[in-house]
Amino acid sequence: MNKPLLFAHRGFSGKYPENSPLAFQKVIEETTCDGIESDVHITKDGQLVIFHDASVERTSNGSGWIKDKTFEEMLQLDIGSWKCPEFAGQHVWTFGQLLDFCKETKLLLNLELKNYEVFYEGLEKMVIDEICSHQMQNQVFLSSFNHISMQACKEINPEIKTGLLYDKPLLEIARYIERSNADNIHPRYMLLQYQPELVDLYHSHGMRVNTWTVNDEENMRDMIERGVDLIISNESDLLCKVAGEMCD
Ligand code: G3P
Ligand code: MG
Repeated sequence: MNKPLLFAHRGFSGKYPENSPLAFQKVIEETTCDGIESDVHITKDGQLVIFHDASVERTSNGSGWIKDKTFEEMLQLDIGSWKCPEFAGQHVWTFGQLLDFCKETKLLLNLELKNYEVFYEGLEKMVIDEICSHQMQNQVFLSSFNHISMQACKEINPEIKTGLLYDKPLLEIARYIERSNADNIHPRYMLLQYQPELVDLYHSHGMRVNTWTVNDEENMRDMIERGVDLIISNESDLLCKVAGEMCD
């Protein structure tokens, strides 16, 4: 059985506060994942920051939109204690800090551009410039639910791989992907069960199939059997165990 690449969703977010330095560090300490998936936004003063939601209330002790906060204000937030008081004192990273961490640990990085709720002007170029200044074009690949943004990334720098995220069944998907310039497709895993022909279709178009967010053993096994190329999970220790049993 082909072993897919195994990715920790927002770091090891099943056990630790998502997108926190601790959650990233624990991927190294407690799993054998190949990489991490994470999300990026822009602050009011133009810093790229690692965070999932466009606003901060769900996963911090603050409130409001990231686009209305300075980086200094973002840095004041505690992004650990919402998960559990023992994780208090975690603070957001810039995208540059996450790149430094991946460079040092050799983890691959799937960066999701969060530009479908807030349309951040210039996000694509800022992200690509940062990747290039770290010389990590081969270690980082991009994805977004905003497919226009992925098209733009490919035009800015064709060397950096892009992926189309989607979470609902689509009409005429073959024609859609033929018109796109993306390298990868990132379907929510149920969509591959709903239309089992999709994995072969995407592969026949030269696209890698990177699926998310697979958190239970039964669906992990199912995705591996269907031949996906990459699985993203909150339960990244379980994912490594299941894939190890099936593929090693
Ligand atoms: O990239 C996979 C997944 O992260 C997409 O959705 O909302 O968890 O960022 P979300
Ligand atoms: Mg994401």
